[in-house]
Amino acid sequence: MTSNVVPATPDSIAAAADLLAEGGLVAFPTETVYGLGGDATRGRVVARIFAAKGRPRFNPLIVHLAPGWPAEEIAIMDERAKRLAARFWPGALTLVLTRAPGCPISLLASAGLDTVALRMPAHPIAQALLKKVHLPIAAPSANPSGRLSPTEAAHVVETLGDRVDLILDGGKCPGGLESTVIDLSVPEARILRPGLVTAEALERELGEKIAVVAAHDEAPGAERRSDGAPAAMNANSEIISDDEIKSPGMLASHYAPKKPLRLNATAAEPGEALLAFGPNPPRSILASLNLSPKGDLVEAAANLFAYLHRLDASQAHTIAVMPIPEDGLGAAINDRLRRAAAPRP
Ligand code: TXA
Ligand code: MG
Repeated sequence: MTSNVVPATPDSIAAAADLLAEGGLVAFPTETVYGLGGDATRGRVVARIFAAKGRPRFNPLIVHLAPGWPAEEIAIMDERAKRLAARFWPGALTLVLTRAPGCPISLLASAGLDTVALRMPAHPIAQALLKKVHLPIAAPSANPSGRLSPTEAAHVVETLGDRVDLILDGGKCPGGLESTVIDLSVPEARILRPGLVTAEALERELGEKIAVVAAHDEAPGAERRSDGAPAAMNANSEIISDDEIKSPGMLASHYAPKKPLRLNATAAEPGEALLAFGPNPPRSILASLNLSPKGDLVEAAANLFAYLHRLDASQAHTIAVMPIPEDGLGAAINDRLRRAAAPRP
C-alpha cells in the first residue's frame, strides 16, 4: 500500500477538497465505482486525468456535481433532462447534454464535443467531497484505460497508486457497475452505456422506448460517440484530425482483466477459474467465485469487478464465466463481460 490512501473521514475529505481546489487528482468512492477526480473547469487538470489513465483524448469524461448544484449553468436541461434528474439524481445516471452557453467545463473534458456528461452521485463520501470543494469534478473510473473498473480502494492503489495525489478509502462501492449513460443531446434519447439504472426504468419515466445504441460495438473500448465521429484533441487541446488518432483498434477490448475470458461456460476446463452465477455451479479445481448463489442480479453487479480482479490474480490461465440472464441489470453485466472478453490488442 502506498501512503496516499486514507480512510475517508471529515478531515481527510476536507484535505481531499483542498487538493482538488489546488489542481490535484483525488480518487474517491461513488455508489457505482471509484472515480479519479479533478477540477473539471481547468484544462490542465483534466489533461492530467487523461494522462494518469492513459485515456485517449477523444473519449470525454463525466462531470460530477454536488446535490443541488445548478446543472442548467453547465448544460441545457430540457424537459426530459429535468424529469430524469428529478427521478434519478442523486444516483447512477449520467446525462449527456448540450453544453450551455458559457459552460464553465473545460472543452477537453467534453473531448471537443458540444455536449457534456453530468452526474450527481448518491454516495455520501462523494457528496461530502463535492459539497466541500464546491467545483464540478471530472471523474472517469479510477482505472488505467481499458482495464477493470475499481470497486475498492485497493484496486485503485494497485493500478494507479502513484499517479493519484490522494485516494479516499470508503470501502466497497455498493453498486459495483458504472452509471447508465443516456444521450439527451439528440431528439430521440438513446442509451450509450447500459449501467445500474436499467433501460426499463428510464423508459417508464420518459414514457417512450429508448434505443440502446451499440456505441461500443465497432471498437468497444473506443467509447466513441454513437454517431461514430470522434472529436479528438492533442495535448494542447487543439482539435486533431481522425487519422491522427492512434489506431482505435488498439482499444478493441475494455473492462479487461489480464487473463482471457470465456463466456457462457457451463463448466470450468482444466486450468480455468470459474466465475459462477446461481445455485449449484459446476466445480473448478483452481478457483471459483459465485457472483450470486441465489441468482440475484443486483448482488451479481456489486460483485462483478471485484471478483474479476480476484480471479485475475489466481493461477488460472483463463476465466470461464457462466451465462447471466439479460433482463434488468443483466444487460449491463453482460455488456461489461462481452467487452472484457473482446479481442485484445
Ligand atoms: O459510474 C460512473 O459513471 C463512473 C463514476 C466514477 O462516476 N464513471 C465512469 O466514467 O464510468 P468513465 O470515464 O469511465 O466513463 C464515461 C463514459 C464513457 O463511455 C464516455 O465515452 C461517456 O461516458 N461520455 C462522457 N461524456 C460523453 C459525451 N459528452 N458524449 C458521449 N459520451 C460521453
Ligand atoms: Mg471507465
